[in-house]
Amino acid sequence: MKKPGEVFADASVYDPGIEAIVPRYDELHDAILNSPPHDRSEAIRVLELGTGTGELTAKLLTRFPESSVLAADHSEQMLVEAERKLETFGDRVELGQGAFPEDYPDQTDEFDLVVSSLAVHHLDEGEKKALFDAIYDCLNPGGWFINGDVVQFDAPHLEALSGDMIENWVRSKGWEEADFMDEWEASDDYDNPSTLTDQLVWLRESEFEAVTSIWQYYNFAVYGGQKPE
Ligand SMILES: C[S@@+](CC[C@H](N)C(=O)[O-])C[C@H]1O[C@@H](n2cnc3c(N)ncnc32)[C@H](O)[C@@H]1O
Repeated sequence: MKKPGEVFADASVYDPGIEAIVPRYDELHDAILNSPPHDRSEAIRVLELGTGTGELTAKLLTRFPESSVLAADHSEQMLVEAERKLETFGDRVELGQGAFPEDYPDQTDEFDLVVSSLAVHHLDEGEKKALFDAIYDCLNPGGWFINGDVVQFDAPHLEALSGDMIENWVRSKGWEEADFMDEWEASDDYDNPSTLTDQLVWLRESEFEAVTSIWQYYNFAVYGGQKPE
């Protein structure tokens, strides 16, 4: 049985597979990495929630060459792929197996930046709020939380529009629609996306400032906020 967010039964097909089912996957990652105010030269400490195969992690470690990252995920098979991909970064990256919000952030460490990509939408509303509170607590003053994720439209016709857009994207990548539906519907069971508006309000309620949406393509969005100085 798959864990929430594993997407594919076999994690070794995740990298080519996710690009086929998440439109503008690299652009979403770029929007996350372009958003923090830090200089490339800063030795920032970063927590990543739901690192998966380490794709965003590798880009982050490259973009910020002095950074160090605690990369957390509850999936053993995803972490096996991440370990292989991130080996070259040595002790700048530590992989942690566990779930958020239960195990991470654990408040024993403090961070300048918390990032996540395509993972938080598996939590229900109460868990998302608890996670936002815990992220706020683990950030240093002035630190940022940036999340790139699936969001929900309130309007049914916009949900349908997003669905059509994804199906067209999948076909453009040469996948059979049936394969796509099998993989996607299996992972859909665990999906719990909230609206972008609700999540911006919840970040405010967790005391974040400068709360903002940064990028959006249909039902994929990058948003975040800052812990006050
Ligand atoms: C769709 S993948 C995204 C991976 C990567 N961030 C990316 O951009 O490709 C979601 C990842 O989040 C992990 N995940 C989902 N919910 C989680 C939770 N509550 N605790 C820990 N990991 C979780 C899954 O195991 C999976 O590796």
